[in-house]
Amino acid sequence: MPIATIEWKNNCARIIDQTKLPLRLAYIDCHNVECVWDAIKVLKVRGAPAIGVAAAFGVFLGMREVKTDNFNVFKGHLDKVIAYLCSSRPTAVNLFWALERMRKKALANSELKIAGLKKLLLQEALLILEEDRQTCRRLADFGSRLIKDNDSCLTICNAGALATADYGTALGVFYRAKEKGKRFKVFACETRPLLQGARLSSWELKKHNINVTLIADNTAGYLMAEGRLSKVFVGADRIAGNGDTANKIGTSNLAILSYEHKIPFYVVAPGSTFDLKLAGGKDIPIEERHKDEVFKLQSKRVAPSGIKAYNPAFDVTPNKFISAFITEKGIIYPPFKKNIHNVLAV
Ligand code: MRU
Repeated sequence: MPIATIEWKNNCARIIDQTKLPLRLAYIDCHNVECVWDAIKVLKVRGAPAIGVAAAFGVFLGMREVKTDNFNVFKGHLDKVIAYLCSSRPTAVNLFWALERMRKKALANSELKIAGLKKLLLQEALLILEEDRQTCRRLADFGSRLIKDNDSCLTICNAGALATADYGTALGVFYRAKEKGKRFKVFACETRPLLQGARLSSWELKKHNINVTLIADNTAGYLMAEGRLSKVFVGADRIAGNGDTANKIGTSNLAILSYEHKIPFYVVAPGSTFDLKLAGGKDIPIEERHKDEVFKLQSKRVAPSGIKAYNPAFDVTPNKFISAFITEKGIIYPPFKKNIHNVLAV
């Protein structure tokens, strides 16, 4: 049951508006780069790989409008469009990865006429979309080997088809395990403040006929203490060279709890989510979002006025709490610094 998170249709980027789910499956048609920027900023499209794919289409849409025959003028506009898209969200490195890939494609083909360059940018965005689909399947193949009958797995946020071009990272592992006939269940953390777990993961998991139970975020420790969890699978927004991992706020709590309860904690992520330039997690920029997301629940204020709020969208899990990374090139076990480099830095 494919979920078309992003597709190129009728000359525009068609994106599922995730702010409307699960009540309504609505789409937005982005005809220009401003629409893509806004979709990323307000989380109509969200999840690291999906943000990267959307941004790639954003580059094409921004450059489609440029009227010049001169490559240097074209390049000047390209720099501006890319800088603009870079400003939409700071943490998921897939955004910057996709934008750099688009830039390189244009620069490597400067001998082409501008019409040819524009065509090439669209082709590159479509390729990024297709590659993400295939990468997710490979992640799922590797990850599903770790799931055994009667496992009881936990996940946080949404790391499914909605967060990627198709199928997902952490949730893709569950979909593939189900296709292989394994019997297991999944607990989904609701994921305050924006409830990606309750609204999006539960919706997707149910569509895939996965046995899913929703829990409040603060229930995870009790569930582990009860002995009712066997594995944790999460996605990632940026992974430093030593394995420190930024993911949705609350992920590090789960990792530390898992460590204490001796429950394997797996991060499922494509190579494009690894930022090998960063030595450790302290260098990962963490997005701080509007306080209203904490003050309000589904747009309705629940907190009294006159108080403060703090709303980091991500946290960083230190590598020592992570059992392994599941990538499209295989499963990476500790020592991470050496093994991440060996597997991915080629
Ligand atoms: O703020 P969001 O909804 O974009 O956060 C998304 C996450 O943290 C996901 O878990 C992460 O991007 C992995 S997605 C495959």
